[in-house]
Amino acid sequence: MKYLKIIGQEKISGEVKISGAKNAALPLIAATILAKNTIKIGNMPDVVDTNTFFKLLNNLGSTSKREKNTVTINTFDIKETKATYDIVKTMRASILVLGPLLARFGHCEVSLPGGCAIGQRPVDLHLKALEAMGASIEIKNGYIEAKCEKGLQGANIVFDKVTVGGTENTIMAAALAKGKSKIINAAKEPEIVQLCEVLKDAGLEIKGIGSSELTIIGTNKELLNFKDFDIIPDRIEAGTYLCAGAIANAKLTLTNVIPKHLSAVLAKLEEMNFKITKDKNSLTIYPTSFIKPANIITSEYPGFPTDMQAQFMALATQAQGTSVFDERLFENRYMHVSELVRMGADIHLNGNIASIHGKPGTLSATDVMATDLRASSALVLAALVAKGETNIHRIYHLDRGYEDLEGKLKLLGANVSRHNE
Ligand code: EPU
Repeated sequence: MKYLKIIGQEKISGEVKISGAKNAALPLIAATILAKNTIKIGNMPDVVDTNTFFKLLNNLGSTSKREKNTVTINTFDIKETKATYDIVKTMRASILVLGPLLARFGHCEVSLPGGCAIGQRPVDLHLKALEAMGASIEIKNGYIEAKCEKGLQGANIVFDKVTVGGTENTIMAAALAKGKSKIINAAKEPEIVQLCEVLKDAGLEIKGIGSSELTIIGTNKELLNFKDFDIIPDRIEAGTYLCAGAIANAKLTLTNVIPKHLSAVLAKLEEMNFKITKDKNSLTIYPTSFIKPANIITSEYPGFPTDMQAQFMALATQAQGTSVFDERLFENRYMHVSELVRMGADIHLNGNIASIHGKPGTLSATDVMATDLRASSALVLAALVAKGETNIHRIYHLDRGYEDLEGKLKLLGANVSRHNE
């Protein structure tokens, strides 16, 4: 197993190019199941999760070829419709093939994803939406067996709770259903907006893009003619580098970003006393004389993203005063707390509320364990300012979602290296 060694308190500065969004790429790769043509996708992040997703589709019969950040994919020859446990267990997002496979073939089997480090993460809302469209679903031997031999029917779907993956699966299923579907209380994340736009460009009639009410006129199993497209920039990777600049008190410029996707993150950094300047596709964060504490409540987009909570917690350890965080999306997304405490942070947990008593310069280096993707990035941020040498173990979590993290940090001047245990 590999680990990252970071020698803290090196001065960082400069420019970093943000990669394509992992969480936009995954549903879009799944959506290629709905295509009748070969598609070229640009700005595809070269991270473990996207590569696992291509492997999953290739196992089903697609062909894909990656050249750096461009992937060409053709799913026309898919015959197999079973997403097996060996892949799903490594990547929960594999559930995103359920909607498009069922819509195209009238049946499929997808291994039921289990919980993960951040919570139970059920998929009941995905299944309920597909049942509303006429699917019969059984859970057998750990697999979701979905059938609808006559084809899915458009339906009115009201989500009890906002779900990103559930909305994506339902959009893809509705795309090939017969007739009109309405998705009410849909998620509105930029990743969902891009999924809708790519499908619209492929000829799908879809209204309400970017709102919580989507209307889709299904094609009745007619496959779509996709145009080539580029994945949108990763707002969470961008937010993570903004936090790197903030915690290291450095001037950093991020390129290949869409600032409006980061509104909640930018507002919070400004509240914490950071100056940020925006251009059309770039952002610059400047050093500050002191960091103010901030209170954070995670919520669905356009609220403050749960995927940025851990990174802001690392930053809050360097604020002058107490910050209070309220994690509302996942029941167990505070795994980084005990590791930050081992580095000298003063954090108290009470259920889903964390109180971070910040004090600049208090973090010290040690060996820490990454537990999930975003928790790992919080440890990297803490290590950048900790005194001494921090070794971050289990970095396969980071490799799932951050493209070339060490390369990018090194270019900024950080002292980062990768080693074998
Ligand atoms: N939920 C249900 N039933 C469902 C689906 C979801 O109760 O059928 C609950 C979840 O347990 C959770 C909440 O609803 O409490 C929101 O879950 P959601 O379905 O929105 O999350 P997801 O689609 O599984 C995506 C991202 C996550 C991100 C969340 C929230 C991808 C591949 N994953 O997960 O990203 O945290 O939305 O924004 O898009 C990450 O990138 O590190 C990551 C975990």
